[in-house]
Amino acid sequence: MAPARFAGARTTRSAAATRRLGVRLGAQLEPGDVVALLGDLGAGKTQLIRGACEGAGVAPQEVASPTFAIVAEYRGSRLPVFHADLYRVADEDELHATGFFDLVGGPGALLVEWADRVPGALPEERLELRLAHDPERPSVRHLEVIGTGARHAALARALLAR
Ligand SMILES: Nc1ncnc2c1ncn2[C@@H]1O[C@H](COP(=O)(O)OP(=O)(O)OP(=O)(O)O)[C@@H](O)[C@H]1O
Ligand SMILES: [Mg+2]
Repeated sequence: MAPARFAGARTTRSAAATRRLGVRLGAQLEPGDVVALLGDLGAGKTQLIRGACEGAGVAPQEVASPTFAIVAEYRGSRLPVFHADLYRVADEDELHATGFFDLVGGPGALLVEWADRVPGALPEERLELRLAHDPERPSVRHLEVIGTGARHAALARALLAR
């Protein structure tokens, strides 16, 4: 049987709005949740994660871009958040060396920018957030939200609820 799935879309009109969507996500994250963030440079992946960290109770100054570390761990008051950025990761072997795979389904929520750089890095059951620039309006982003598997489908539904 195919896993449960829930998909929808949302448009944000400012960085703050994308961040607020992230706060809403972060308030609902649980240990073991996996979130893939996809989209071009500057699409707003980190903005959304900053919000998610806030929603998980992470102090804002903790959140940086983990480009050099590949994975950063933040201690949220609600739960630990692992923030990974696979932009510079060459392949699955390199990712193995970072300990990344211990975090999948691990003790915190795992949020991964550029998750599509390493196919197979993440389980099929995940929440996928695809962000795209609007071709004409510089502060507008179009988001696709896709949850696969019962848990992540529920997260997607909650994130898109009015
Ligand atoms: N609606 C919007 N949502 C998110 N960010 C926006 C929006 N409008 C403008 N921005 C701006 O776009 C930029 C998004 O940067 P951000 O670092 O979040 O992108 P990113 O997807 O993480 O890029 P990278 O691939 O380089 O890590 C910020 O400068 C932000 O202020
Ligand atoms: Mg980023």
